[in-house]
Amino acid sequence: RSGSDDRTFIAIKPDGVQRGLMGEILKRFEQKGFRLVALKFLQASEDLLKQHYIDLKDRPFYPGLVKYMSSGPVAAMVWEGLNVVKTGRVMLGETNPADSKPGTIRGDFCIEVGRNIIHGSDSVDSANKEISLWFKPEELVSYKSCAQDWIYE
Ligand SMILES: Nc1ncnc2c1ncn2[C@@H]1O[C@H](COP(=O)(O)OP(=O)(O)OP(=O)(O)O)[C@@H](O)[C@H]1O
Ligand SMILES: [Mg+2]
Repeated sequence: RSGSDDRTFIAIKPDGVQRGLMGEILKRFEQKGFRLVALKFLQASEDLLKQHYIDLKDRPFYPGLVKYMSSGPVAAMVWEGLNVVKTGRVMLGETNPADSKPGTIRGDFCIEVGRNIIHGSDSVDSANKEISLWFKPEELVSYKSCAQDWIYE
C-alpha cells in the first residue's frame, strides 16, 4: 500500500469507552479526512491483548496493562489516508498525557499514562501486524468515499 492508502490501527481503550469519549474520538478522525475501513466493539481477550502488546512483555507495567485493556470493551478501528500512521500518533499526543499538548486526544481528555484512553500504531510495520491481529481480511471494508477528491488534490 502507498500514499493515501496508508492504514493504521486505532483502539479506544476501556477508559475511553466508559468515559463516553468514543463519539468525540471518531469525530476527530472523521473530520480530519481519514477514511474508516473497519470498526468493531468488543471485549478483547487477555490472549489477544498480550499479543498486541508483546513488545512490552518485559516491562514492569505489562501485566497491569493487559489487565487494564481487558477490563472492559474497546472500540477497534482501522483508518486510512495519507500518512495516517504518523498523523494519527500526532493526533493522539504523547504516551504520557502529562506531556501531551492541548488539542491532542490525550492532551485534552486524560491525565495518567496508565489510563491514556487510546491506542495508535507506532509504525507502518506495527500497523500491518495489528490490523491482521484484530481483523479478518473480509472485515476491512472497501468503498469509494465521495469526499476523496475534496480532501486530496
Ligand atoms: N510507565 C508506564 N506505566 C503504566 N503504563 C504504561 C507505562 N508506559 C506505557 N504504559 C501503557 O502501555 C501502553 C503502551 O505503551 P507504548 O510504549 O506502546 O506507548 P504508546 O505507543 O504511546 O501507547 P499505545 O501503544 O497504547 O498506543 C501505553 O499507552 C500506556 O497505556
Ligand atoms: Mg505503542
